Amino acid sequence: MKPPVYVSRRVPARVRARLEDLFEVTIHDAEPPPARSELLAAATGSHGLVTMLTDNVDDELLAAAGADLRVVAHYAAGYDTVDVEAATRRGIVVTNTPDVLTEATAEFTLALLLGLARRIAAGDRFVRRGGEWSWAPTFMLGSGLDGRTLGIVGLGRIGTAVARLAQAFGMRVVYTNGSGPRLDVALEWLPLQRLLESSDAVSLHCPLTPETHHLIGRAALRAMRPHAFLVNTARGPLVDEAALAVALPAGEIAGAALDVFEREPEVTAGLLELENVVLAPHLGSATAEAREAMGMLCAQALESVLLERQIPPNVVNPEVWRRG
Ligand code: GLV
Ligand code: GLV
Repeated sequence: MKPPVYVSRRVPARVRARLEDLFEVTIHDAEPPPARSELLAAATGSHGLVTMLTDNVDDELLAAAGADLRVVAHYAAGYDTVDVEAATRRGIVVTNTPDVLTEATAEFTLALLLGLARRIAAGDRFVRRGGEWSWAPTFMLGSGLDGRTLGIVGLGRIGTAVARLAQAFGMRVVYTNGSGPRLDVALEWLPLQRLLESSDAVSLHCPLTPETHHLIGRAALRAMRPHAFLVNTARGPLVDEAALAVALPAGEIAGAALDVFEREPEVTAGLLELENVVLAPHLGSATAEAREAMGMLCAQALESVLLERQIPPNVVNPEVWRRG
C-alpha cells in the first residue's frame, strides 16, 4: 500500500506524476489555495504533506493530519509560515527547497532593480496609455547600475547570487547579516544603519523572523539616500508598507520594487498609485525549471522519509531524526 500524501496546490505535471508513482495522492488541483476547513479535512490521515508558503502550517494542521504524519515537505525556501517547533515536538520532519531557486530568484531581483532604475514598467504603462512621446535627451530618464553601490541585507544563498550578478553590472556590493561578517566572502560588511546610509539600492534577502519583522520601517527609510531604491524579493513583512507608502511620495527614497507584500495578495493602496513602484505577484522563483525542481525536491523528501526511512536532504529540523 502506498502511503497517503496530501498536496495543497496544483503542481507541475512531472512533479505530480512522480508523486503519484510513489504515493496515494490527494491534491488540491487548483492555483487558488484551499479554504482552511478544506486543508484541515483533506490533510487528515496523511503520512506526508506538501505545503505552500501561503498555507499556515501550524499545530492545528499538524494535529488535524493525525498521528501518522511523518513529514511536511514545504514547497518553498522560506518556511516562516511553518511552526517548526510544533512539528519537532510531534516528531515530524520538515523540509524546504533551497538551492534550486537561487538563480531564478537572484535573476528576478536584478530584473526588478533594472525595471525600477530604467523605468521599464513605468515606460510600458506610458506606451500602453497612448502617451505622446519622441526620443529626447531629457525624456523619461532613469539611473544606471554601473558604479553604484548595492546593499544586500542577508547574505545567504540568494543574497550571494544577487551580489555576483550585481557585480557583473559594475555595482559595488556591501552587505549586512544577522550573524555578522562572513569570513568566506570578499565583500564589505556594514552594520545595517551604515548600509542604509551608503547604498544606492538596498535589496532584502533575509528570512522573516520576529527580529526582522518591519526591519525596513520609518527610521530605516529615513536613513536611506533620497535617490536610493528598495527591492524586496524575500518576505513582505520585512517592510512596513504603510511607512513605505509615506516615504515614497515624500521623496525619502526614489523608488521601490516589491515582489512580496505584508498581507499578500493585498497591496497597501497608496503604493498602487505611485509610478516609482514596481509590483510583482511573488514571482521570484517562478521559472518553469525552478518550480519543477522545487517540486521534485518535495517528492524526494517524502520518498526519503516515508519509503526509504532515510534523512532527507534540506531537512529544517534534523533533531527530529537524531531523536529517532
Ligand atoms: C518563495 O518565496 C520561497 O520561499 O520559496
Ligand atoms: C538611442 O537610441 C541612441 O541611439 O542613442
